[in-house]
Formats: sequence, structure tokens, C-alpha cells
Amino acid sequence: MNHFKIIRSDEVESTYIVKRKNSHIDKKYHDNHLQVSKIHMSTDRILYIDPVASQDAYKTYYVLEGSCYIYGDDTTVYAGDMLVFKNTDEVQTIKTLEETVLLVHASQYDVYKTLEDNQELINAILLEIQEKDHYTGEHSLRVYELVKKLGLRLGYVSRSLNNLTKAAYYHDLGKIFIPDEILNKPALLTPDEFEIIKEHVELARDMIVENFNDTVYQIIYQHHERYNGSGYPNGLKGDAICKEARLLAICDSFDAMITDRVYKKGKSVEVALQELKELAGSQYDPELVKEFVAMFLE
Ligand SMILES: [Fe+2]
Repeated sequence: MNHFKIIRSDEVESTYIVKRKNSHIDKKYHDNHLQVSKIHMSTDRILYIDPVASQDAYKTYYVLEGSCYIYGDDTTVYAGDMLVFKNTDEVQTIKTLEETVLLVHASQYDVYKTLEDNQELINAILLEIQEKDHYTGEHSLRVYELVKKLGLRLGYVSRSLNNLTKAAYYHDLGKIFIPDEILNKPALLTPDEFEIIKEHVELARDMIVENFNDTVYQIIYQHHERYNGSGYPNGLKGDAICKEARLLAICDSFDAMITDRVYKKGKSVEVALQELKELAGSQYDPELVKEFVAMFLE
């Protein structure tokens, strides 16, 4: 069963047509019964469309410019096409194939709310980290991109992909609570200092659970666990570590390997991939390393 209906540009009835240069809808508008928003998205962005809240609610996504791929349905929609959601119960995942502008019209404010997911607040916190520790901010974005690519390749979509990529983007959020002098120490850490660094996996717990959910937090909490049980905080082994955290660990380590730091020069991609292969089965999930390496060779 389809969870939405596509109305192609040549089928759009005149009553549906939204004028492109209707500038007064540029700003988001909503009251209790209606919300109109215009979303500008760059290439390769993922958008999750939550189910409509009630039986008589609906929402439409009109493609003003660009094009998007719809996961699950293996369809592409182009400028002029419109997606209509009514009576749906699944989260839909779409990806922009180029710069895209969508006009969203939802019949109830609630139906659209989760799209924004309190991201503004948490993004402000991440910017704060970036100021405190430049590396963490940029590293988070790169890890997010790697995890997203690998996640899509492994079949993650909608809610599961959302949780996975959120965890990737915010995996080091807890570092905001670590004292500057430890975080930015230009030399090796003492054992005591390392114990403090380790706490970053749980320090942002409340923020993550309140703004996202517990699943996202569990992935973050386990991202330093290692396949052979040598990681922290709990020394979990193999499948006892959730798959998303095993996947995040590979992407996180890979980015750390190839990045220059004050105290070390980054490795080349080839050397880092080789190192991952050597550590597959000990530090990292061997099956996931295989997928990660294959993703780079394509
Ligand atoms: Fe970390």
C-alpha cells in the first residue's frame, strides 16, 4: 500500500497550483489549523516526513525547485510534482538530488512539528563546542556524512536512519562539559585526565533524551565500546554493542585517523582503510568494516 500519493506536474489541477513567486509565504505561517512553510535544502539532504496526526489531517509537499528521491518507493519527484500525505502511519524518507525548494502545507500544526525536532537549541550547543574545541565541531559533521552514507547503504531509512544520523552528529556533545584544558591539551593525557574524557559519552544524556530520544542516547553512550570488549564505558563485546554504535565507532575512528591534529599528522585514506581492515574482528565489527571499505572503493 502506498503511504502517499504523487500528483505529477501535468496532472496537477488548477486548484492545487501554488504560484512560484508567491513571496508572502516565504516566512513560515501557522495557526492551529494550518501551516505553510517553504524549505530550502541543499543537495544530498535527508528529510523525514512524519505520519499525519489524525484521520482528517493531511499535508502536501510541493516541489517548487529541484528534485528528491523517495526511499522505499524508489521514485523521484521533480519540480511541479506534489506529494500528498493522508492516512499514513509510516515515516517517509526523502533525499534531495540537487538544491531543492519544497513548499509544505499541513492541515494541523502538530503534523509538521517533529520535522524540526528541537534542532535549533541543540545546534546552538554544538556551535558552542565548535568554539571551545574546533576539531569536535568539524569532526561531527564529517562523521555524520560518513554514517549517513553507510546507513543508507545498509538499508536504514526513516526513523532508524534519523536516530542513527542524529547520534552521529551529536556523538561528542558531552565534550561541552569537559574542562577546556583537558579537551585542548596539546600533549598526551594523563590516566586521570583520560578518565575525565571518557565521561563525555554520558554527560549529555539529559540533553539528548529530552531533545531526541533514548535510542539516540544509547548509540552515543556506546560509541567508544569496542568489538573485543576493550572499549568504554562498560567493556561490552560483539553484538552486546548495538549495531548503530558499532557502525558509528568505525566512522568516528576513520575520521580521527585521517585528520591532522596538533600532535599528529593525519593518515592517508588508503592507510586508514588498511588499519580498519587489520582491526576488524578485534576493535571493529568485521562485517561492518567490510561494508565501510566497499563503500570507499565504489
Ligand atoms: Fe567520542
